[in-house]
Amino acid sequence: MNTKITIAIDGFSSTGKSTIAKQLAKKLGYIYVDTGAMYRTVALFAMQNNLIGLDFINQDELIKQLINIKISFVFNADLGFAEVYLNDANVERKIRSLEVSNFVSKVATISKVREKLVSEQQEMGLNKGIVMDGRDIGTVVFPKAELKIFMTASADTRAKRRFDELIAKGDNVSYDEIYNNVVDRDQMDTTRKDSPLVKAEDAIEIDNSNLSREEQFELILKLVKEKI
Ligand code: DC
Repeated sequence: MNTKITIAIDGFSSTGKSTIAKQLAKKLGYIYVDTGAMYRTVALFAMQNNLIGLDFINQDELIKQLINIKISFVFNADLGFAEVYLNDANVERKIRSLEVSNFVSKVATISKVREKLVSEQQEMGLNKGIVMDGRDIGTVVFPKAELKIFMTASADTRAKRRFDELIAKGDNVSYDEIYNNVVDRDQMDTTRKDSPLVKAEDAIEIDNSNLSREEQFELILKLVKEKI
């Protein structure tokens, strides 16, 4: 019988981490957790409660309100994946907007926010059999994960992918604003004091700028098979 392992997938924004992690979890019958969605949900809450804006963030009040934020993943059988809920509201679509993308890295710098989300993530992984993607999974959330992947791709490749995705959804965005958002988030994610985005020493780096989805999946599946 295969042993269940913990798989940590970290990397820059829009490297396709979620897509590959989702596919992998489905193939292995593992739980999939998109931790970026959790940070995005906190950012959305802050926006809805006027705790963040273009030139301000009310950190103290957001920290006080953290106990009122319940994030859950609810499986949608029609879609074949879990959608994110903020308290009782399905926020799956809202948290993917460019507006949330513009605020989320700021929210993710707050240590109390990270503490709450990291502890919820660790609880979800207690029984292993989990694929989790984010920025600090291999370094902070599951430093003992049996398999750690660090995904990279050029900023231009990532911005093009994100742009195509948003346009396909009917969002009215320009390539330049997407590119700037990708570069700004890289900067904020890698330089924040608490849990900056870094490759764990024992993570395997995959640059997927020139890899098809299938090639990438096969490569990762091979790495998984070496561990189980
Ligand atoms: O993966 P994503 O683009 O949806 O993540 C949104 C933001 O959340 C990203 O800019 C950084 C932050 N994040 C984080 O700090 N730690 C994580 N484990 C996941 C995401």
